[in-house]
Amino acid sequence: MGKHIAVSETVLRDAHQSLMATRMPYADMADILKTMDEAGYYSLECWGGATFDACIRFLNENPWERLRKIKSQVKNTKLQMLLRGQNLLGYRHYADDVVERFIALSAENGIDVFRIFDALNDVRNLKTALKAVKKTGKEAQLAICYTVSDVHTVEYYAELAKTMEEMGADSICVKDMAGILTPEVGKKLVSRLKETVSVPIVVHTHATSGISYLTYQAVIAAGADRIETAISPLSEGTSQPCTEALAIVLDEAGFDTGLNLTLLEKIGDHFRECKDHYIAQGLLDPKMLTPDPRALIYQVPGGMLSNMYSQLKQAGATDRYDEVLKEVPRVRKDLGFPPLVTPLSQMVGTQAAMNVLSGVRYKMVPNEIKDYLKGKYGKTPVPVDEDFRRSIIGDEEVIVDRPADHLAAEWEHLKAEIGDLAQNDEDVLIYALFPQVGRNYLAKRHSVEETSADEQEVVRVNGYY
Ligand code: CO
Repeated sequence: MGKHIAVSETVLRDAHQSLMATRMPYADMADILKTMDEAGYYSLECWGGATFDACIRFLNENPWERLRKIKSQVKNTKLQMLLRGQNLLGYRHYADDVVERFIALSAENGIDVFRIFDALNDVRNLKTALKAVKKTGKEAQLAICYTVSDVHTVEYYAELAKTMEEMGADSICVKDMAGILTPEVGKKLVSRLKETVSVPIVVHTHATSGISYLTYQAVIAAGADRIETAISPLSEGTSQPCTEALAIVLDEAGFDTGLNLTLLEKIGDHFRECKDHYIAQGLLDPKMLTPDPRALIYQVPGGMLSNMYSQLKQAGATDRYDEVLKEVPRVRKDLGFPPLVTPLSQMVGTQAAMNVLSGVRYKMVPNEIKDYLKGKYGKTPVPVDEDFRRSIIGDEEVIVDRPADHLAAEWEHLKAEIGDLAQNDEDVLIYALFPQVGRNYLAKRHSVEETSADEQEVVRVNGYY
């Protein structure tokens, strides 16, 4: 057997997040989890990102319960989640006590690999989450958000990786959320990272621009230790490249992926059936499956393309799609070249849409963008033009140290706010992460329980109390 290449499967998280706004219910996973557990993956990415939000907002599922159910079926393969550093899974910075509580409970409920990133690659925003994961003994993976700009050179990333290793990262991921890592840069980048750090290097890309297989081939040749793929029916387009195809050609090239092709075929059959339903229900727009090399120009990640499109569809303005797409890099430049990853991808996308639809740039500015310009998200890769900043936020104070140092402990306060609607700490976190939607979800559950004493018994047995 040749060199081992570990493969992580993304169908339970990133694939459906990128292709169909994270709408896969647990019911579509349940019957195939045992097979997935035996297929030889390094890990199954199944939680975090937008899954938590979609569970309570659209699917009426308890995200913690989903994680426990997955864990009960997947005994051998690691479960992996994506965590936005100090933002956790929400859209603001949380105080350290909330970050610590969330990670402890995620580990307790089954997460083995925590991929932690900060949208701005400001490592100060990774510190508390990293420390909390280390405390649980689980794999603490720090991710570099890959983007292209004058400052984002191979040397810049190598320095960042070195800092991450020194901070205690167990592995480092090159997170190419937009699918813009080209084979040539990928080769140079991974070679440089392998020279610089000794922890495993993971490469995560998207098939958006049509170059992903070439990129994986190049980074594997350069020494990458792990790649991430999606099972065929939910691969390609804005998702990851296809698991089965890579398993076959890597095997042929003498690499050992540990993957079982017969089981991969079974998994593919299962999700092929699901996919037919998603298309029939209009959840999966086949448009998302066509390669879009414009991602190489606009550096817009898959999830952002699909979100912008559906936002414009709701506003009856899909004819402005191309204009909005062209406005994105201009907004990004104004904001100091932030990588386009959640929550910045949404913020930049919304600002770009407002700039185009209102007809006057920055006539309307969301509060999130104002907070960003006040330094509340961290340090921008390139300093923002001061005149531009002041034109948006006036004389308001700008934070220059770690944003979370300005946040007082808030756990007890959140707990008091949600009161009886929360039956345990998991519920408090549902509320903390999504105040409005979370409260609605908890209130709805509460009223169902009020009307059914029997049901309440069942809830007790399941350990809510
Ligand atoms: Co991704």
